[in-house]
Amino acid sequence: MDDMTEALLTDTAKPKVPTLPDAQKVTFVKHWTDKLFSFRCTRPASLRFRSGEFVMIGLMGDNGRPLLRAYSIASPSWDEELEFYSIKVQDGPLTSRLQHLEVGDEIILRPKPVGTLVHDALLPGKRIWFFATGTGFAPFASLLRDPQTYEDYEEVIITHTCREVGELTYGAELIDSIRNDEMLKELIGEENLSKLRYYPTTTREESPKMGRITDLMRSGEVFADLGIDPIAPETDRAMVCGNLAFNLEIKELLEGFGLNEGANSDPKEYVVEKAFVD
Ligand code: A2P
Repeated sequence: MDDMTEALLTDTAKPKVPTLPDAQKVTFVKHWTDKLFSFRCTRPASLRFRSGEFVMIGLMGDNGRPLLRAYSIASPSWDEELEFYSIKVQDGPLTSRLQHLEVGDEIILRPKPVGTLVHDALLPGKRIWFFATGTGFAPFASLLRDPQTYEDYEEVIITHTCREVGELTYGAELIDSIRNDEMLKELIGEENLSKLRYYPTTTREESPKMGRITDLMRSGEVFADLGIDPIAPETDRAMVCGNLAFNLEIKELLEGFGLNEGANSDPKEYVVEKAFVD
């Protein structure tokens, strides 16, 4: 082997220094329960997205290849940072590692936002429903902080169903912060006249409102509690994000109320997206 060939071979065989492509720095981490956490990171200057969309984020895998998963952006499009809300799965390939993130760490973020939970995928209406279970709250954390939501609708109803009370905390604190936000407060109105209605329910731990939202819709209890008419295609629009069984059940219910599923290219009365699962 001549020197040249040896030099070439040695060079390609050298372990590559792992440089993260599309790296962003973690700026904030908060653990909400032993199974849920949220974090914030820097936002690429070039990243434009519509509130409700998701991106691929992750970490470098042991094999030197990026390990990426779809995550809804939980921050609104005007925020200078990005926020994500995640489950922790102990043997999940990504979240078992992601849950140990600390401020200053780097994550990989592919700046190509996509998704159906966007205002463009719905026809104009009077009232919008955001139906979430578990971490399916994330895209609504973005949409609920987007002024367009309150400009486009007279009433905004967010329902969040979780097994236990602690799992509601991220959403409950967000709703509080929205109600106290100087800019959004103007659009939403003061307490009794507020156009933002929050309807949290739990299924496995005692709380002021118990039951699956699907059952509460079927029985009419949610409409009675909120003092409103049942869902109708002339007035109501809906976005759904939760586990698969929930999404299917809500779809059937919404279709029963006369709503049709829309898409970016074909706006209609409701849209659905699966919540991130590791
Ligand atoms: P339940 O406790 O009755 O299963 P998970 O943690 O499994 O993703 O569930 C999150 C929440 O979604 C739980 O409160 C769960 O209720 C509820 N849920 C699960 N499946 C459905 C469904 N098909 N319709 C409505 N709610 C559901």
